[in-house]
Amino acid sequence: MTEAILLVGGQGTRLRPVTVNTPKPMVPAAGVPFLAHQIARAAAAGVTHIVMATCYLAEVFEPYFGDGSDFGVHLEYVVEDEPLGTGGAIRNAAQRLTGGPDEPVLVFNGDILTGLDIAGLVESHRAADADVSLHLVRVEDPRAFGLVPTDSENRVLAFTEKPQTPEEIVTDQINAGCYVFRRSVIDAIPEGRPVSVERETFPGLLASGAKLYGKTEDTYWLDLGKPESFVQASADLVRGVVASPAVPGPRGEALVLPGAEVADGAKLSGGTVVGAGARIESGAVVRGSIVLDGATLGADTDVTASLIGARAVVGPRTVLDGAVIGDGALVGADNELRTGVRVWCEAELPPAALRFSSDR
Ligand code: GDD
Ligand code: MG
Repeated sequence: MTEAILLVGGQGTRLRPVTVNTPKPMVPAAGVPFLAHQIARAAAAGVTHIVMATCYLAEVFEPYFGDGSDFGVHLEYVVEDEPLGTGGAIRNAAQRLTGGPDEPVLVFNGDILTGLDIAGLVESHRAADADVSLHLVRVEDPRAFGLVPTDSENRVLAFTEKPQTPEEIVTDQINAGCYVFRRSVIDAIPEGRPVSVERETFPGLLASGAKLYGKTEDTYWLDLGKPESFVQASADLVRGVVASPAVPGPRGEALVLPGAEVADGAKLSGGTVVGAGARIESGAVVRGSIVLDGATLGADTDVTASLIGARAVVGPRTVLDGAVIGDGALVGADNELRTGVRVWCEAELPPAALRFSSDR
């Protein structure tokens, strides 16, 4: 049996995802709250017990995930009164673990979508008799991440969270936010105060000579920190670019959930999701986007890589590209909204109010 801790909290995730009202980990990706994919993937890899470490009220998660039995796991929640940081959250969640001091404990960040071979990471952790094993990925720009250089035997040499100077950027290998800890290593994290696993625990372990291994696996990996990557993740799940047992339907160009209405003349592609009660009118072209429950895309709208909030209404001929439209917002006809634009929940934009292209 393998146990896991899922980190879902902190300041970042407490914020609404810019405009949509739902707490970020519960915004649907490929038709279900994003966390469902992580839980289902862990279960498929043989994880049987998950402790969700959160500083939200458990009411956010419990009605959907319950005791985890729908996912084939035993799911428990621990709620921090004040955010304890990543290390403090892991330490706090460990009170619910049942394994012995040498048992491996999987820990994963709640804002990552990955195709990592989880069971493989646990296996190589055991084989190396490691204290901590970290999944690493290579990225073009590592500055927003934890840098993890390794030696020829994959032993971790340093851990530099969010490097500040060019000299600190010694590798393009970063912490992918999924670890296996030896249980006793978690128990040694100080209790009852905020601890950053990245800034305090990992550097401390390295200084004390502990065995930290990095596993650079070239696999699907996406950090969902930005709404545009969230939309991308959803599209990739729908198309099957990354596998998740939690996607509620067959893989393909679009996932139309029960109760959605798509007019005959509308075209859906690129892993678009249309939520329950949403309406896509004739002539609409929708690529790689998320249309949440009850939203309407009017006739001849042209929508790419966008997130349309629950009950939002987008008027005819409006163009959206890389846009996030908040829950209940009204975007009038003949608007053009591009790259990075956010329309706040319930906001109203009159017809023909905004455009990016030159006057026609
Ligand atoms: N329960 C709890 N309490 N969870 C927390 C807390 C806390 O106080 N603080 C952060 N978390 C959770 C977040 O919800 C997220 O799932 C995870 O811990 C990581 O925190 P982020 O705030 O998202 O960190 P980051 O994205 O800047 O950096 C982390 O992830 C990168 C990969 O995406 C680090 O682990 C980096 O080293 C890593 O490269
Ligand atoms: Mg993050």
